[in-house]
Formats: sequence, structure tokens, C-alpha cells
Amino acid sequence: MPLVKLSDLVTKPDHTYAVGAFNVSDMEMAMGAIRAAEEMNAPLILQVAEGRLRYSPLDLLGPVMIAAAKKCKMPTAVHLDHGGTMETIRLALELGFTSVMFDGSKYPLEENIARTREVVKLAKGYGADVEAEIGRVGGAEGDYKSVDVLVTSVEEAKRFAEETGVDALAVAIGTAHGNYKEQPVLRIDRLKEIAAAVKTPLVLHGGTGLTDEDFKECIASGIQKINIATASYDASANRIRKVAAENPTARYFEFSEAIAEGTYENVKKHMAIFGMKDKA
Ligand code: 13P
Repeated sequence: MPLVKLSDLVTKPDHTYAVGAFNVSDMEMAMGAIRAAEEMNAPLILQVAEGRLRYSPLDLLGPVMIAAAKKCKMPTAVHLDHGGTMETIRLALELGFTSVMFDGSKYPLEENIARTREVVKLAKGYGADVEAEIGRVGGAEGDYKSVDVLVTSVEEAKRFAEETGVDALAVAIGTAHGNYKEQPVLRIDRLKEIAAAVKTPLVLHGGTGLTDEDFKECIASGIQKINIATASYDASANRIRKVAAENPTARYFEFSEAIAEGTYENVKKHMAIFGMKDKA
């Protein structure tokens, strides 16, 4: 199946399901995610965040992700998550990623708009889509310093969407990257206001640890893409621990299978919650 773009998967506002975007860091995780998508007959977004590239260099992992997406029988997009530097964004586009996220949430609004516009211009030259962030999702994706949530303002989201022309917009409504220390209180009221004011498809970051009800409420209120990273890393790591505990002489290949299996189970579980079954 040819690679698809983010905008092929999240164009129409649909309040019954959202497309899951699953972070991967190696071939095994990508294989697990593909298996889940094929069993669910669901579309898939494979992504990797710039903050994780220390472990999985983009020039090595990127081609694996593209090959995995092409091999997948379901429509699959390959996305750079939380791109922060033009160098990494350009490399992802050169490798054939069908979308990139530029995360300018640390900049003042004007600067975020200006930098995002540059990325949109660059990406369009490659026929790729762009996701950006307005407000600030909490926690840290990858090796960065953890930050506090800054809830997205409706006016800023509207202006940002209009002035940048991005294809997807990540909003901050109380979620944070990583495992939650306390259950977050989501600003569904704000999400509804943003969805009413902005036509751009909205993205929820920090999916790990939200309840099924949280996901369903977010989807009903306008979220069209949901990012899941930590839950897959934890599921694969837990599988490895189990193999090691149960079999002290386990071979390398049992561990690599455990990585794929952990991600497969986690992706499949989230696809079911997100209403993705048979949406390919
Ligand atoms: P989690 O690690 O909390 O699932 O967040 C994923 C994410 O938003 C990636 O951008």
C-alpha cells in the first residue's frame, strides 16, 4: 500500500473516531504497530519524535519506518513528531516522511507563527503536511526538560491556524507527555470552543494514561489525531522484563519479539478505544 499523508487520514471532522499516531523507535515497534493496524483493518500513523533520535538516528530509523509503512496493507502515514530544528525537519522530508510536526510552543506567538510558516513553505515543496502546536502540552517528549501545561487560547488557535495554514493543530487542554503523577483534569470546554472556531484538524498529545472516557470525550469534542508514545515503550519494556524473569537463558530473539508484541498489544488496545476498527 502506498504511503498516505496525514491530511488523507484526518480531513473530515468525525466525532466518532480519531486516528492513532504511534511513536516507534525501532523496526520491532514498527512491526508491532503494523500488525495491530492490519488486524484492526485500521489506518495508521507511525511517528518518531526528535527528542528520541539520540537512541534511533533518523537517517537509520526513517528508512525503516518508510519501508514498514509501504509494507503495511493499511493506509499508513509516516510523521516526524515534535520537530524542533530545521535540520531534522529537512532530513525527515528528504527521507520521504509524509508529514512533519514543528513544535514552536516554546516561542512567543508571533515567532511560533513565523517559524511555522517557514516549515509549511519547506514541507509543501516536498508535498508533505505540517502539524504545529499552539499553547503548550505539559511534560516532555523524549530527552527534553519537562514543562507545565499552558492551555490553548481560542483566539490564538484561530489566528495561528489561519496565518500558518497548517494541516493539523496540536492543542493543549490539560494533557502532558509521559506517565501522569495525578489524573489530569481535561479542559473539554476549551476543546469544544477551539473546535467550533478552527477548521484545522485537532491533535491530542500526551495520550498515555488517559481513561477510555477521556479519549471518547475528546473525540466527541473534535480531536481527530491522538498521539501515544510512553504506553508503547512501557508495554514493550514490561514484556522484555517478563521474558527475562521467566527465562534467564532467553535468547536475543525472544527479547526482540517481546518488543514487537508489547507495542502490538498497546496499539491494538488504543485503536479499539479510538473507534478505529474497520476505518481503513
Ligand atoms: P505520551 O508519551 O504521553 O503517550 O505522549 C505522546 C505524544 O504526545 C507524542 O507527541
